[in-house]
Amino acid sequence: MTEVVLRSMSRTPDPRLREVMTSLVRHAHAFLRETKITEQEWEAGVDFVMRLGQASGPTKNEVVLASDLLGISPLVVMLNKALAEGTDPALLGPFWRERSPVCKPGESIARDAKGGEPLSVEGRVIDPDGKAVAGALVDVWQASPVGLYENQDPEQPEHNLRGRFETDAQGRFHLRTVRPAGYPVPTDGPCGELLRAQERHPYRPAHIHFMISREGYRTLVTQVFDNTDDVIESDVVFGVTPSLSGDFKRGTANAGFPDPRSHE
Ligand code: BEZ
Ligand code: FE
Repeated sequence: MTEVVLRSMSRTPDPRLREVMTSLVRHAHAFLRETKITEQEWEAGVDFVMRLGQASGPTKNEVVLASDLLGISPLVVMLNKALAEGTDPALLGPFWRERSPVCKPGESIARDAKGGEPLSVEGRVIDPDGKAVAGALVDVWQASPVGLYENQDPEQPEHNLRGRFETDAQGRFHLRTVRPAGYPVPTDGPCGELLRAQERHPYRPAHIHFMISREGYRTLVTQVFDNTDDVIESDVVFGVTPSLSGDFKRGTANAGFPDPRSHE
């Protein structure tokens, strides 16, 4: 069967399509032979994929979530890392929003008066030679102290915990916020069913997302994780790497910064 199928596709004019589909068929057939898949099992698999599509819409994509839970999207991200020595990339995830508020250096992205531990975030954007990248756009977004993104939570104001900052002449940026909490990925669809069948928890450790871009450079999409989180070793979507996980250090008296919840 395998050789017959490969022969039927062998005239594909697009060389990359030919290469990818040839490999896909070889591996898929090997998987079926190795697991000796039964007809009922195959039907259950087809039904699962169909339900992934049916459960997806403008606010949720179960197909992407399934590829995250199987380690496929995180592997694609790692395989396409721009530079061996650069900052590790991480998933974009479903909660990024276009055109979040443009902020001044040091501005707070905590736009509601609710509680949360004040957090000050500073970073520096450098090129592969270690030179500062001035004028880079640093797009930041995170979940709230109760583990919900603003667009999942009617209690939060528009664009809460989102903002875009520009790096200064030394490539630095600074923002104030509140400490994010970890959260579960959606479990009300077929992906939740799979997690339960595998006895896996649905949580991501607390993190802050960054998308850093500048004309003439490849865009970096990454996340920084709180290594004190209970699930730091078992992120349900496999996004944590050693270099992206660190201490949220306790400062003194807001480390000289005003309270992030005040917008004065
Ligand atoms: C996120 O970090 O926002 C995320 C990534 C993958 C799946 C669900 C959420
Ligand atoms: Fe997230």
